[in-house]
Amino acid sequence: MISKISNPRGTSDILPDQVLAWEALEATARNVLKTYAYREIRTPLFEDVGLFKRSLGETTEVVNKQLLEVRSQREDAEEEAGFALRPEGTAPVVRAYNQFDLGREEYLSKLFYIGPMFRGERPQKGRLRQFHQIGAEAIGRGANHPLLDAEMIALAVRLLQTFGLKGFKLKINSLGSAEDKQKFAAWLRDQLKGKINHLNEDCQNQYERNVFRLLDSKDKDCQDVISDLSIGTSHLSESGLAYFEEVKKGLDQLGIAYEVSSHLVRGLDYYTHTVFEISCEGLGAQDAIGAGGRYNGLIEQLGGGDRRFPDETIGAIGFALGMERILLALENQGKLFSFRHALDVFIVTGDPEFKPQAFALLEQVRREGCSADMDFGNDRPFKKQFEQAHKANASFALILGAEEVKNQTVSIKNMATGEQVAVPRDKVVEELKQRLVPEF
Ligand code: HAM
Repeated sequence: MISKISNPRGTSDILPDQVLAWEALEATARNVLKTYAYREIRTPLFEDVGLFKRSLGETTEVVNKQLLEVRSQREDAEEEAGFALRPEGTAPVVRAYNQFDLGREEYLSKLFYIGPMFRGERPQKGRLRQFHQIGAEAIGRGANHPLLDAEMIALAVRLLQTFGLKGFKLKINSLGSAEDKQKFAAWLRDQLKGKINHLNEDCQNQYERNVFRLLDSKDKDCQDVISDLSIGTSHLSESGLAYFEEVKKGLDQLGIAYEVSSHLVRGLDYYTHTVFEISCEGLGAQDAIGAGGRYNGLIEQLGGGDRRFPDETIGAIGFALGMERILLALENQGKLFSFRHALDVFIVTGDPEFKPQAFALLEQVRREGCSADMDFGNDRPFKKQFEQAHKANASFALILGAEEVKNQTVSIKNMATGEQVAVPRDKVVEELKQRLVPEF
């Protein structure tokens, strides 16, 4: 027998019944995002590989080990460097912001996206190679206020609350300005100097290349060394510290509960100042359902900036929520409704000869905005056709039997109550619409 082909590991098919939960999540997200004045942006699924190397950092796990690179067959000079499927949405949004000079018209651009991301990870529960994010990014000269950090965090929390999720925790931290970050890195190196020789080669490399990575290392020995460190806020300059205080005040004002975690640094290089992560209980090892932070220097680092305002830096902050993990958490909490597709109408016929009439009626009903279908099989008895109507979750059956055809009528059957009434053929749509209220 010829073997079936399955989808690649770490990807998933979202089958028709599951799509309904996804649609509900997306529609809810869109509504909430709009109340915070965000507008949707759609960027390509792949970009020049250099975009991710320059923005996420050459030494980060996402770039180093997880980029899924694609190359076309063409030997085109323009394509020499190759492309990568987007592992996240921030770098593409900043690329588009710069390319289309959105800052020229807008003091603050509030942008959101919903879509698939790709990382060549080792798949496990909650860790996929193709996964989906709901992300928001606020970029512009008007994005430098600590209350915007608080708003961004509040938006992530509001989204999760609106989805009906419970039991999630918010951790925040501040990395300070680019200079503060350098100071922080130097301090970390100094603290770890005597201990690093006892750690594995990977950790020793990270110590040299990007010491922050050690803070979220999965290596047990490294974790022990790190947990002994007492990391405070001494790396923060006075203004960095004051900024962080304002962010916290903003969160307090909105009544948002958080924990300050000095070990939280995040796995991508572009972050400065505020970083945050939201985890949810019951998800096991992959419990981060969303994360984000400020990335002030990235716009300039990717060639953007506004020469008209040389003294004003372009600020930026954002987050992304992982949709698969949110759906898993909702399912664990029994909050995932089992949505079912439904139809307004299913047409059944008493004789194959009546099919053309049924076919014309089907189109007429659809033109009026009702969802409708019929049985396209030949010689299927009424019983089978009604079974199909039930399976399709139809509200009404329209019956064209011998009696109805003879009398120029159609019977309307309420599939829930079994109630049935014959109406004149030319009145059927009107009668049907009255019964379908208030859906119309
Ligand atoms: P991230 O922490 O890499 O940040 O990803 C955000 C969320 O996406 C994670 O918390 C998780 O829920 C989900 N996620 C990440 N990788 C996977 C995976 N392999 N399988 C399933 N879900 C996953 C970012 O992507 C940043 N761009 C967030 C951001 C936006 N920062 C500023 N703006």
